[in-house]
Order: sequence, then structure tokens, then C-alpha cells
Amino acid sequence: MKTVKDYIRTIVDFPHEGIMFRDVTTLFADPRGMRLAIDQLLAPYVGQHIDKVVGLEARGFIIGGAIAHQLSIGFVPIRKKGKLPGAVISEDYKLEYGEAVVEVHDDAIQPGEKILVVDDLLATGGTAEAGTKLVERLGGEIVGCAFIIDLPELGGRKRLEDLGYDIHALCQFD
Ligand code: PRP
Ligand code: ADE
Repeated sequence: MKTVKDYIRTIVDFPHEGIMFRDVTTLFADPRGMRLAIDQLLAPYVGQHIDKVVGLEARGFIIGGAIAHQLSIGFVPIRKKGKLPGAVISEDYKLEYGEAVVEVHDDAIQPGEKILVVDDLLATGGTAEAGTKLVERLGGEIVGCAFIIDLPELGGRKRLEDLGYDIHALCQFD
């Protein structure tokens, strides 16, 4: 039987020379792949109290929406700067080259709500850390951070675990 990893395509030298881009669109496009990924992402959290799923732009929206639907709970997007229409709070974070900013609506999470953070891929952990900071600034409590792919050589898992977060990833690429 195919595993989640088997559905993920690698594109060499995208978006820059030397990058092996792990492309989840092939996983999402396959009905068995999509079902397998969502079921496996959900498995550790079944029976736990979770109030909302927070998804990180852009591919975290696809899996976050599916997970929120399965759990019959709400979904909150964390977006790149300037995309959300209401009042926001912002966090800067480092990219491989340069910096970026992510934002969340300041009324999207209520103090004490239990939050599951989701994204497709964990690399350096900068995006996920910025996302967890936004959630915690609004008073949310992180139940866990779930990813389809972990790139362990880039250190994101250790970075988030050192901050005390529980990490769930379905597969790894070197
Ligand atoms: C990718 C990926 C994660 C992030 C991981 O998104 O989907 O969100 O990078 O990298 P990090 O752990 O080093 O922060 P990207 O920034 O390419 O944005 P996109 O999904 O909007 O294309
Ligand atoms: N984001 C950061 N590194 C990535 C990679 N190798 N593949 C896909 N998305 C990424």
C-alpha cells in the first residue's frame, strides 16, 4: 500500500538552484492520498479537546480546512502581511533570505481556546514559530503542531520542541 510520502513529488531546483522542492499538490490531487494524509494528521488528536485549527498560508489552508471540517470546529487563517481585511496582530520571521511578516485577525482566537496549528511542511520552523506566537499573543493554548513533511536537517522540529510544542509529522525527507 502507498504511504503519504509516496504521493509527494520532488521538483529539483525550484524555486532556486539547489532546492529539492517537496510538492504536495500530487498528494492533494489524489483522493486516496488526500484521505490518507488527513486521517493520519488527525489521528493523535482524536478525543482531545480542540477549539480551532489554525492554518499557515498557503498550503496549510488546504489541510487545515479539511481537518477543521472533520473535527466540526472552526478554522483560522494566518496570512502573509496585508491580506486580511480586519484588525490584525503581526509577527516578523526570518526566511532563508530576508524576512517576512504573518498576521492573524485580532478577534479570531479567544483566551483559553485550544489550538491545533497545521501546515504542509516544517523546514527551519520560522513560519510555524511566528504562527504559534500569534496564537499565544491572543491567549490561545497550542495543543500541537501538525505537518505532512518534516525536513529534519533544517532544524524546525528541534526548534519547536525546544519551545515546548508537541510536533506531529507524517514523513521526513533528507
Ligand atoms: C513553505 C511551507 C511552510 C514554510 C516552511 O511556505 O509551506 O509554510 O515554507 O518553512 P520554514 O519552516 O523554514 O518557515 P512558503 O513560505 O513557501 O509560502 P507559501 O505556502 O505561501 O508558498
Ligand atoms: N519550504 C521550505 N523548504 C521547502 C522545500 N524543500 N519544499 C517545499 N517547500 C519548502
